[in-house]
Amino acid sequence: MTLQTRPQLINLHPAPADMARLVREGLGRHPRQLPAWLLYDAEGSRLFEAIGQQPEYSLTRVETALLDQRAGELAAALGPGVLVEFGAGNLRKVGPLLEALRPAAYVPLDISARHLEQSCADLQTRHPQVPMLAICCDYSQLADLPAHPLLQGQRRHGFYPGSSIGNFSPPEARALLEQFARLLGPGSRLLIGIDHPKPAERLEAAYNDAAGVSAAFARNLLVRLNRDLAGNLDPTAFAYVARWEASHSRVAMALVSSCAQTVSVAGQHWRFAAGDELIAEYSLKYSTEAFLQLAQPAGWRLGQRWSDPAGELSLLLLERADS
Ligand SMILES: C[S@@+](CC[C@H](N)C(=O)[O-])C[C@H]1O[C@@H](n2cnc3c(N)ncnc32)[C@H](O)[C@@H]1O
Repeated sequence: MTLQTRPQLINLHPAPADMARLVREGLGRHPRQLPAWLLYDAEGSRLFEAIGQQPEYSLTRVETALLDQRAGELAAALGPGVLVEFGAGNLRKVGPLLEALRPAAYVPLDISARHLEQSCADLQTRHPQVPMLAICCDYSQLADLPAHPLLQGQRRHGFYPGSSIGNFSPPEARALLEQFARLLGPGSRLLIGIDHPKPAERLEAAYNDAAGVSAAFARNLLVRLNRDLAGNLDPTAFAYVARWEASHSRVAMALVSSCAQTVSVAGQHWRFAAGDELIAEYSLKYSTEAFLQLAQPAGWRLGQRWSDPAGELSLLLLERADS
């Protein structure tokens, strides 16, 4: 067995011109909304890790505990092959699964290049027996995985924790699940985490913690636009709200203009009246049944399901319906 010392890294981050186009499209919409991945520069990734440690935000703790406790069962259900993780973050959740599964290779995908590189280098040190290939990309736009020797001739399985599918609208989520089915290929399985609906007060507190970390995370989006797209937004001129929208089963995380203002970003001017919102992120909450109504037409069927004792969230093992 060859022990690996350094993961390989491929950088397919969207070019500045593509970011500018996405921002102009998003600011031209009603309500104004930007792709959630723009929240994750290096500082955004650091702040997201801090959100996971806030007492109000239980998702990270509960899902990590479930993954730790059930790693052996989950590995047996996935089976051999390459493990591809979508939106891998700090790579904390995958450790026990790697230990139990010993995949032919591990391929974390994330938009946040420096954070991915550092997290993957740390993980490689802890798991030198698993070859790793980190890919910085927008996974929602990835038609195929790069042709790379680590990915050749192996069955591919997906890992998508954190309920990140909730950042996409239902039609986008369905398209993403179809894309994952194509990208992973025949015989693949997808282990996906979904967060279930909860009382409004709990969800609003989870996305607007008392320490203000969620608010800082959302405002960092404006700092990022200023830096990367020559913006002049004043983060202190926007309040932050997290609101449960029951009719859509989602939390809206919004930056609300506190005055009438004209801002400039990505080469254009944008008028905000006092109270106008910029949606930083939606987080949809699904029952298992509602989620399967998206996943089944996208080519997946339910294999197994694991939940925490309080039923806050579930890990679903999806199997490609054609295999
Ligand atoms: C909510 S965090 C979840 C992190 C980790 N999977 C977890 O469960 O704790 C979302 C992660 O996905 C990444 N991300 C968000 N949108 C992305 C996209 N479209 N393409 C690639 N990475 C994305 C972010 O950088 C971040 O690390």
